[in-house]
Amino acid sequence: MIITGAGSGLGQATAERLAAEGANLVLVDMNAEGLEATKKLVTTAAPEARVELITADVTRPEDVENYVQATVKTFGSIDGFFGIRINAIAPGAIMTAMVENSLKQMDPDNWEAAGEQFVSVNPMKRFGKPEEVAGLVSFLLSEDAGFINGTVVPIGGGQHAMY
Ligand SMILES: NC(=O)c1ccc[n+]([C@@H]2O[C@H](COP(=O)([O-])OP(=O)(O)OC[C@H]3O[C@@H](n4cnc5c(N)ncnc54)[C@H](O)[C@@H]3O)[C@@H](O)[C@H]2O)c1
Repeated sequence: MIITGAGSGLGQATAERLAAEGANLVLVDMNAEGLEATKKLVTTAAPEARVELITADVTRPEDVENYVQATVKTFGSIDGFFGIRINAIAPGAIMTAMVENSLKQMDPDNWEAAGEQFVSVNPMKRFGKPEEVAGLVSFLLSEDAGFINGTVVPIGGGQHAMY
């Protein structure tokens, strides 16, 4: 499987989860250090997993072509690449480096309090965890989700229902 943005946050947690469930992974990110950190976590969670790292910018078509070709070369095929189910997830506020940095920009000295205020309007009164998003990705890839197709699944503690 190919996971883009795998050097941090949601992609990193998803890599750990899918490797623990037996997936072989190609991890793509423009941040090589982040990829190395993810590889460490993945090989701790799943010592048997095959993990390839590819530094690439997903906005560049030639980079995308390159990591898809490299994956096919290394693993022979890509699971699900020509599959029939395409689903998306729509995360609400999940606590990752991206969200932490945004809060720090809003209020550098008091970002944790700014975060608490931010989630005070969420029915669950908290940020989501990257592991919870990874769990949803795992479910959507599983046979239990075999009839879920062409949909967008929100994961945001119910905040989307508040608007
Ligand atoms: N965390 C949230 O609350 C949240 C909510 C909604 C949507 N999202 C989206 O989910 C995705 C992941 O978010 P996250 O919170 O894990 O962020 P993050 O900053 O923790 O991780 C994003 C990773 O993507 C990599 N990246 C960025 N641009 C890239 C590019 N052009 N090519 C390759 N790699 C690139 C970064 O280097 C980083 O490792 C983002 O698209 C974000 O907008 C996040």
